[in-house]
Amino acid sequence: SRGSEFVVVANRLPVDRTVGADGVPRWRRSPGGLVSAIAPVMRRRKGTWIGWTGAPDERLEPFGEDGMALHPITQTAREVELYYEGFSNATLWPLYHDVVAPPIYDRSMWDAYVQVNRRFAEAAAEVASEEGLVWVQDYQLQLVPRMLRELRPDLRIGFFLHIPFPPLELFWQLPWRRQILEGLLGADLVGFQLPGAAANFVRLCRRLLETRHVKQDVYWDDRIVRARAFPISVDVGELNDLVGRPDVQERAQEIRTDLGDATVLLGVDRLDYTKGITQRLQAFGELFEDGRLKPGQAVFVQIATPSRERVEQYQLLREEIEQQVGRINGEYGEIGFPVVHYLHSSYDRAELTALYLAADVMVVTPLRDGMNLVAKEYVACRKDLRGALVLSEFTGAAAELKRGAFQVNPYDIDGLKGTLLAALDAEPAEQARRMRTMRRRVIEHDVDRWAQDFLSELERPGVRPVREP
Ligand code: UDP
Ligand code: G6P
Repeated sequence: SRGSEFVVVANRLPVDRTVGADGVPRWRRSPGGLVSAIAPVMRRRKGTWIGWTGAPDERLEPFGEDGMALHPITQTAREVELYYEGFSNATLWPLYHDVVAPPIYDRSMWDAYVQVNRRFAEAAAEVASEEGLVWVQDYQLQLVPRMLRELRPDLRIGFFLHIPFPPLELFWQLPWRRQILEGLLGADLVGFQLPGAAANFVRLCRRLLETRHVKQDVYWDDRIVRARAFPISVDVGELNDLVGRPDVQERAQEIRTDLGDATVLLGVDRLDYTKGITQRLQAFGELFEDGRLKPGQAVFVQIATPSRERVEQYQLLREEIEQQVGRINGEYGEIGFPVVHYLHSSYDRAELTALYLAADVMVVTPLRDGMNLVAKEYVACRKDLRGALVLSEFTGAAAELKRGAFQVNPYDIDGLKGTLLAALDAEPAEQARRMRTMRRRVIEHDVDRWAQDFLSELERPGVRPVREP
């Protein structure tokens, strides 16, 4: 039924199914920044979300959950292996993150990527109303804009890439570079986190497809494709409500009490090699080794949410981190006082908010990250103007928060050690000054503003058809 005027297409639905200890299946919020950002937008605007439940071979009818209309897409076990774990997360993910791990180029993975992208495009073509608006999300679905335009030329199609878009010199490695680029050019508007990514895209169009362009308007196939930056953000209203809840405040107190008198450093990440978790633990451990920190003086809480657990690089990383944590605690921990609390599981919004409120120093050290919402969530939660944010220069968030954050290059372990200490030692007045600067930006540019900016640019009339300049 062609009913929906507003359709979001993302590999993942906002919920995935888990089976509780009691054997009863439940819906739980899916991991990652895409879901954190799109779910509040979808709850407020009526629309349909097309995506996958996270379980192989699952066939489900459309259903409603948490105020959203969800349209499930099936992926077979083999497609999960080749399209999701393979091309999406062993090829594109490392390639787009500065090849911090080596990408795998495999033709059967590519074939599965084409096949699953087509299934998503067909579902969107079926669900979207006449002249409706379809918003395609992220690197797993870069072929959908073009496929969808062929099926439904009446639609307005937007695409947003949540992760970095690599420089031409890296993208050029991809054996299917032309297909991917032409896939994206099926959209009317292609959104990126940062202006530099949009510039990479335009430059690539010119070099690979010999397109003409005026500023960031690319002329392609008798249409204008606009490339623009829209830095994504957090749901400030929701976080405000959580901070105001007495049970959340009590939980923050309880966490502090459990950790004793130590200064609390916090990391919250999916367990992913782009996040720089080993670098931050290395720096923290060396501060004890050097005697610049004493056991009992500081404690590191690292939440590492399970992610893409069947992909080899993720398995290797998990082993490395767990060895590292064991080594540091073995050397510097005391009975009842480990120096690193490592938690390999997923937490809900309320628990994360309590952790943000309990943390003196939030440590965000990715080697490359499109935005990093955790950094913005920490800032949004610190209405008390306390706490310090240590933030990698290689995150999208650094572009907006650099004046208030303690900036680091995570590859520079000595620099990271010095900056961790500076953040630990910052006086309340300095903390407040920095936090105020960062909060101004996050509050003004929250996720609703982001969605509004993208969608009004997409709806701006009078851009097609066109003649080339
Ligand atoms: N998150 C969560 N539970 C966890 C860990 C993380 O809900 O146990 C959320 C976190 O609050 C944030 C998102 O997952 O909204 C992570 O987004 P980010 O942009 O930092 O990184 P990504 O996972 O998208 O790479
Ligand atoms: C990042 C990506 C999202 C993805 C999320 C979780 O935020 O940009 O597209 O959904 O990580 O990863 P997963 O592979 O579990 O969907």
